Amino acid sequence: MQFDVCVIGGCGHVGLPLALCFANEGRRVAGFDVNSDAVAAVAGGQMPFQEEGGEESLSAALASGNLRICDDPEVISSARDIILTIGTPVDRHLNPSFAAIQAAVEDYLPYFRNGQLLVLRSTVYPGTSERVYNVIRSEGPQMFVAFCPERIAQGQAIRETYQMPQIVSAFSDEGMARARELFEVFGGGIIELAPLEAELCKLFTNSYRYIKFAVANQFYAIANDHGVDYYRLREAITKDYPRASDLPSAGFAAGPCLFKDTMQLGSFYNNSFFLGHAAMLINEGLPGYIVGCLRRSLPLREMTVGILGMAFKADSDDARDSLAYKLRKILELECKEVVTTDPYVSDERLLPLEEVVERSDLLIVGAPHSVYREVDLQDQEVVDIWNCFGRGGLICP
Ligand SMILES: NC(=O)c1ccc[n+]([C@@H]2O[C@H](COP(=O)([O-])OP(=O)(O)OC[C@H]3O[C@@H](n4cnc5c(N)ncnc54)[C@H](O)[C@@H]3O)[C@@H](O)[C@H]2O)c1
Repeated sequence: MQFDVCVIGGCGHVGLPLALCFANEGRRVAGFDVNSDAVAAVAGGQMPFQEEGGEESLSAALASGNLRICDDPEVISSARDIILTIGTPVDRHLNPSFAAIQAAVEDYLPYFRNGQLLVLRSTVYPGTSERVYNVIRSEGPQMFVAFCPERIAQGQAIRETYQMPQIVSAFSDEGMARARELFEVFGGGIIELAPLEAELCKLFTNSYRYIKFAVANQFYAIANDHGVDYYRLREAITKDYPRASDLPSAGFAAGPCLFKDTMQLGSFYNNSFFLGHAAMLINEGLPGYIVGCLRRSLPLREMTVGILGMAFKADSDDARDSLAYKLRKILELECKEVVTTDPYVSDERLLPLEEVVERSDLLIVGAPHSVYREVDLQDQEVVDIWNCFGRGGLICP
């Protein structure tokens, strides 16, 4: 075998850091991706997105000769282990779609070989691993199928890959042993589960986080509606009180994972995952809640409103499913003008920070990037639901 590992989706937010970690542990890695632009960038030594330690890790992996990035599926055949990391979005009815994984497995079936291990690393609708296993068993070669969910926080994948235990699951003892052997290299420990258990673990993890953010956002709205600053309460609740120390700050809970994975779990539980759906209403409703508060106390139609930060979370360049865009859309219906800025996101509508600050009658933080803490706002009115400026989180106090 020419490669130890082939990562399918090898230029993605999950696939690339994982490929880099394996390559820098001395594994011979093929990163295969259908996005030719990303392949050209990564092969040329350029990270296609922000990742802590990413540039150094990519340089080291390329210099070692252990990493080959390409858009040729032939590399799949020459790897001992294959890891599938492609996106698994929900459809427009918020139901999971098996189509992407199914299409990838069917497309690459001709490249699979006897004795290979196929690891599903994407977050999947429960039962997907078994469906893939059945497809391989009936139409593919004699290979092993495993489901080993990715649990990193986007942007910190390289560091976290070494810090967290890896959950592994498979359909046979030999498949489990292969999956264990593959991931043991990172040294964070291994947790063995059955495939359905591992699938549910991953969805429970993301839904739990999403619900925690919704709790904070609901508390924020209750306090704000009564003229109380949530951050004074949060400080009081969490100070030297370990049982509540994980109460999050308020803020937009968005991005490509938490929302869609909560919806996947809702769909799996026959749309009776009431907590998950309630969390969705609270989190997705937050931009509308902010605008509703502003509408009651300010002449929005005469105002230029600026949004600071369009990424889905702090210090990230990823605007996928960002609620700052939902906020912009709602404001555009209500205000004279909306101007937006972000130091990391690529979007031709964005303006320099200074221009947005200068032109805006009111600023709203859309993503609490650390650089904003340095901005001199003087007396400018700011809606800051994260309290990133440390002035509290009240809307129109
Ligand atoms: N982003 C995260 O922080 C994160 C964390 C944990 C789990 N996940 C899960 O991991 C999966 C991937 O998420 P992501 O954020 O890395 O997505 P992504 O869009 O950043 O990466 C997916 C990559 O796969 C490539 N791709 C798509 N179809 C392909 C195909 N048929 N063959 C080869 N390459 C293909 C794309 O070009 C892209 O580079 C999702 O299931 C997601 O829920 C993501």
